[in-house]
Amino acid sequence: MKLENSIVFVTGANRGLGLAFARAARDRGAAKVYAGMRKTEGFNEPGIIPVRIDVTDKGSVAEAAKLAADTTLLVNNAGVAELIEGALSGDVEEQSRRMFDVNYYGVVRTTQAFAPALLGKPQAAIINVLSDIVWLARPILTPYAASKAAAWSYTNQLRHDLVDKGIQVLGLHVGFLDTDMTNGIDVPKTSPEDVARQTYDALVAGKNEIMADDGTRALKSTLSAEAPGYIAPPEGVI
Ligand SMILES: NC(=O)c1ccc[n+]([C@@H]2O[C@H](COP(=O)([O-])OP(=O)(O)OC[C@H]3O[C@@H](n4cnc5c(N)ncnc54)[C@H](OP(=O)(O)O)[C@@H]3O)[C@@H](O)[C@H]2O)c1
Repeated sequence: MKLENSIVFVTGANRGLGLAFARAARDRGAAKVYAGMRKTEGFNEPGIIPVRIDVTDKGSVAEAAKLAADTTLLVNNAGVAELIEGALSGDVEEQSRRMFDVNYYGVVRTTQAFAPALLGKPQAAIINVLSDIVWLARPILTPYAASKAAAWSYTNQLRHDLVDKGIQVLGLHVGFLDTDMTNGIDVPKTSPEDVARQTYDALVAGKNEIMADDGTRALKSTLSAEAPGYIAPPEGVI
């Protein structure tokens, strides 16, 4: 799908990777860019239209989809992460409910609400922001990892459902990004601008998936090994 003259809706676009996606779409010739966010007050970016959306609230998602019914590219970016002691922590169930509500059900709700708009367009696509955690064991992210793995699975089912309907579905996998989500975590991080650029390049090239950093590319390449990356992480993957 081309970005020129597309109409883009990005969830969680007030900051971080979502804002980078919205700005890059504008700069690459989108005809209109909607920045979805929970609070629109104070958002002021030239050429970008703020739209209220809370992906945990079906009514709010439906309102946003109605307002932005001309959307041709949906970017499911909104996400939350929390650390936990490990896989045996008593908080796993409760935290998983919070993570799943945004990172999995949020993607499902938003995709289903925008699908009628996308289905009628000559060129349309969905980008789902996933993670390297889909294939990586980091016990301090147990609920987050499960929610992203569920979103990855949904992305794969969705791609097959939509392939004959002319809608491209692109999954983005990446490790640590330099955004608020990783504040205080002292590890090498990829810039959100670089990830948005690589993802749109992959979209334009007609790809189904993008691995946006070296660690994630190395991890993916281990998946058919006897001890894949989620059992024995490759060198350089933190
Ligand atoms: N940072 C990383 O290392 C990393 C790595 C791999 C994948 N990711 C994924 O990248 C995506 C963007 O994350 P980020 O790094 O940019 O994090 P971020 O800076 O914390 O931004 C998260 C965004 O999601 C929004 N959001 C949270 N809950 C929402 C809800 N219920 N409805 C609508 N919007 C909601 C936030 O809005 P508010 O401002 O209202 O909170 C914010 O705009 C997420 O899906 C994340 O899982 C991040």
